[in-house]
Parts: sequence; structure tokens; C-alpha cells
Amino acid sequence: MSRISIIGVTQTYGDVRALDDVSLDIGDQEFITLLGPSGCGKTTLLRAVAGFIRPQSGTITMDAVDITRQPAHQRSINMVFQRPTLFPHLNVTGNIAFGLKLESPRLSKREIAERVNEALLLVRLEGYENRRAHELSGGQMQRVALARALVKRPSVLLLDEPLSALDLKIRLEMEGELRRVHRETKATFIYVTHDQREALALSDRIAVFENGRVSQLGTPTEIYHRPANPFVASFVGDSNVIPVEISSRSFMLGGKRIAIDTDIKGPAWLVVRPEKVRLLGGDVGIPAEVSDLAFRGTGFAYELRIPGVDSVVKAESPAGGESWSIGSSVNVEIEPADCLALVRT
Ligand SMILES: Nc1ncnc2c1ncn2[C@@H]1O[C@H](COP(=O)(O)OP(=O)(O)O)[C@@H](O)[C@H]1O
Ligand SMILES: [Mg+2]
Repeated sequence: MSRISIIGVTQTYGDVRALDDVSLDIGDQEFITLLGPSGCGKTTLLRAVAGFIRPQSGTITMDAVDITRQPAHQRSINMVFQRPTLFPHLNVTGNIAFGLKLESPRLSKREIAERVNEALLLVRLEGYENRRAHELSGGQMQRVALARALVKRPSVLLLDEPLSALDLKIRLEMEGELRRVHRETKATFIYVTHDQREALALSDRIAVFENGRVSQLGTPTEIYHRPANPFVASFVGDSNVIPVEISSRSFMLGGKRIAIDTDIKGPAWLVVRPEKVRLLGGDVGIPAEVSDLAFRGTGFAYELRIPGVDSVVKAESPAGGESWSIGSSVNVEIEPADCLALVRT
């Protein structure tokens, strides 16, 4: 069992509230991701769970045992960092075995060899035993770092942006590997990333962080389809978040009235995903002007100016259809079913 409870944890550095009264329950064998922009407190929370820092207030428990003051090496918790630091003078086997050799009571040579072999197989590095760090690719180095953490058989594995230094192709491949390793080890994974795509793909649940607080906690589909606030809406899925006034279940946008299925009345945020903003020629819909565009392979990403709307409106249209150049006049259509309203205060 390895349930982690974080209860009212606060950590400040001078004026900065790195963690501001954070509470979070993490289930046994869960894959939970802390998602948020740089500086929102993700690493600080991992460090508190690992025992590298002792938060100024709050409690952390593991299987209902208070571990807030327990030293890091006594916790069955290991951490994988963004940039693996391997010992250059040791080969892959030596790097993975290093931590095991320091364990007390001491492990036999045979047991160490067996555990290292098991870890090598888990991260699919068999055949690379004798390579040194400089003979490995970035992805292989991160596999060694993962094996080095797993060889200790932790009940909880903390991963701090482990893929962010790798190129996209390796990153996608490693995502699949991490899911498999999670299933096979049955450890609880607490994963940190600023990449919403990665968080959605990997996690059982996501905790979206903003300024040292949990802004929303939910499954990937909940977070994606039902963002709780404008911050989550714009951070996850890159939604348009536009201030509108709702009356009689409708709002005005660019001089046109659009229906919306909501009980909210008065000031609201309209949340609509770029792929749901349809561009049309002709003269139905809301008039807009193309202010920027980028080819994305699967289609075009547009930035639009709509008269009376302060923010740029993002739209996407699939490849193969009609496309427009910068400065073109277009018409925009948004289906009521694709509009989400959030209270604006
Ligand atoms: N040891 C430290 N000393 C001073 N400020 C720190 C320290 N660690 C983190 N911070 C500050 O706390 C905030 C959260 O940092 P961090 O947890 O590293 O964010 P994230 O991992 O989400 O990018 C940032 O403003 C950062 O500058
Ligand atoms: Mg960080």
C-alpha cells in the first residue's frame, strides 16, 4: 500500500508562497500528475513528499503514518529528475547498482545482480550493461535514471519533468514506457510536467497548479471537458476565454447574438476551443479578420480579430478545406453546444 495524503502544506521563500495551503490525497498505485506553468510550486511539492525539504506548515502522511519529519532515506520514495546525473566513471550496471550497494543491512552480490537485472529488463536496457553515460542517448540516460530509482523498489516514485529534455519522438515513446512501467511495478507515481498533452495522455488524475495552489483536481477528461475556471480552460487545451455578458441564455459576440445552454446570468467567461471556432467564407456568422496563421500539419491555426473583442480569438481548421491568408475577412461560427460558460466575478 502507498497512499499519500498532503494536508494543508505551505512553503514560503521570502515573499514567494511556493506552496499555499495545498491538500491532496493520492491513491495507492495511482498515476497522478501535477500540471502547471513554471514556478507554480510543482517541484517544491515533490521535494516535500521526498523529504528533501520540511514544509513550514502542514502534514504529509504515507498510509496514514505521519512522515513530515521523517528523513528522506527512510521513506520508500524515490525521485527521477529532468536531467539525469549519471556517474561518468561507472557503466550502466554500475550506475543502477550504486544505491543498492549502500543499503544496510548489506545485500549479497547475487541479490544486487538480480535486482539490477530486473530493473534493466523493466526499462528495456538489456544489452547496454557495459555502456558509459557518454555512450548513451538522452532517452537511454533517462531509462538508466528510471532503473536506478526503481531498483530500490520504492512504493512511491516521483518524476520531475523526466521527459522535457528529450525530443518529441523519444518523448512519445517514453510516455508509453512509463505507463507500462507504472503497471508492472504497481508503485504510486507522482509525475510533474508543464505539458498538458503529456498530463492528459499519462494520468489517472491531474492536479492543475496555479501559484502554489491546486486550481482543479480531476481525471484527464474532466479537466479537459469541464475546466473549473478560466486558468484551467486556457492552460489545458488552449481554449479561448472571452469575457461576455449573458442574458436570456445568450450573449453578444462581434455584433451577433449566440445561444448558450447555461444558468449563468450576467458577467461570464465564454470558453471555446480553437477547433470549435469554425471559419466560413460568405456573410453568415460573426465577421472577423485573420491576424496571424500557422500551418500545423493537421490543419491551420489562425488568430482572429473580432470587432469589440479585446483578446485574440484562436481558431483551427482542418487541412484540405478552404484556407485564408493574413488580412482576409472571414466569418466565424460557434455552435451553442461547443460553448462553456464560467462565472466571471
Ligand atoms: N530554494 C528556493 N529558494 C528560493 N525560492 C525558491 C526555492 N525553490 C523554489 N523557489 C521558488 O518557489 C516557486 C515555486 O518553485 P518550483 O516549485 O520550483 O516551481 P515549478 O517546479 O512549478 O516550476 C518559484 O517562484 C521559485 O522561484
Ligand atoms: Mg520544477
